[in-house]
Amino acid sequence: MSGAPVLSARGLTRHYASGAGVVRALDGVSFDIAAGELVGIFGPSGSGKSTFLMLAGLLERPSAGEVWLGGQRVSHAGVHLDGLRATRRRRIGFVFQRANLIPFLSAIENVALSLEIADVAPPDARHHARRLLEALDLAHRADSLPARLSGGEQQRVAVARALANGPPLILADEPTAALDSARSRQVMQLFRRIATTRGTAVAVVTHDPRSVDLFDRIVEFEDGRIKK
Ligand SMILES: Nc1ncnc2c1ncn2[C@@H]1O[C@H](COP(=O)(O)OP(=O)(O)O)[C@@H](O)[C@H]1O
Ligand SMILES: [Mg+2]
Repeated sequence: MSGAPVLSARGLTRHYASGAGVVRALDGVSFDIAAGELVGIFGPSGSGKSTFLMLAGLLERPSAGEVWLGGQRVSHAGVHLDGLRATRRRRIGFVFQRANLIPFLSAIENVALSLEIADVAPPDARHHARRLLEALDLAHRADSLPARLSGGEQQRVAVARALANGPPLILADEPTAALDSARSRQVMQLFRRIATTRGTAVAVVTHDPRSVDLFDRIVEFEDGRIKK
């Protein structure tokens, strides 16, 4: 493995045209996340946090600036996002505010599905999904449908799904916003454990000041920039 950061954002910028002019959703953001690092992203609503994750996660194209993954430049203003689909699938796991599990699939099937999409044979996918759920203390929920799980359990299944393909980078956008404080803490501790034990680089957008002790570093956004 190279010593390059897992994620390196360089001058990331995203402008949207709007009626009143241009919205500078993200305005020249640069920072790195190393393997094993858990970084908290804080900042008021509208400060560009989600836009940053969308650009870093290769779901949107920057207006300017670059995204590097593992020392390789993968996204910039001229890139075609379609060509980044395989990179995204292999190298990035996403967790959003709502777990968005498929309601008619059990927990284990939800996790296995993301492996099958990446061409893992179904029996292997199921086996791997079970091991992941075990590792996240969800073995007893493997065969439950999402509606039978608590919000915290659903979100942990969503984390298992994000981890399924072993991505070096996890991006989470307010993953605990819909959870009570005890369950929120559990999910944050899970991110901490993943970063420490698997060496995954994890960026979590959150408003919850109670989780700050778990982060290696906190980045604060304001008006599309990193607050100094
Ligand atoms: N697709 C879009 N079109 C126009 N403006 C957008 C779009 N997405 C985000 N914005 C604007 O960009 C700014 C940053 O939004 P966002 O990244 O969602 O902030 P946060 O996640 O910190 O709340 C806001 O002013 C928002 O209204
Ligand atoms: Mg947001």
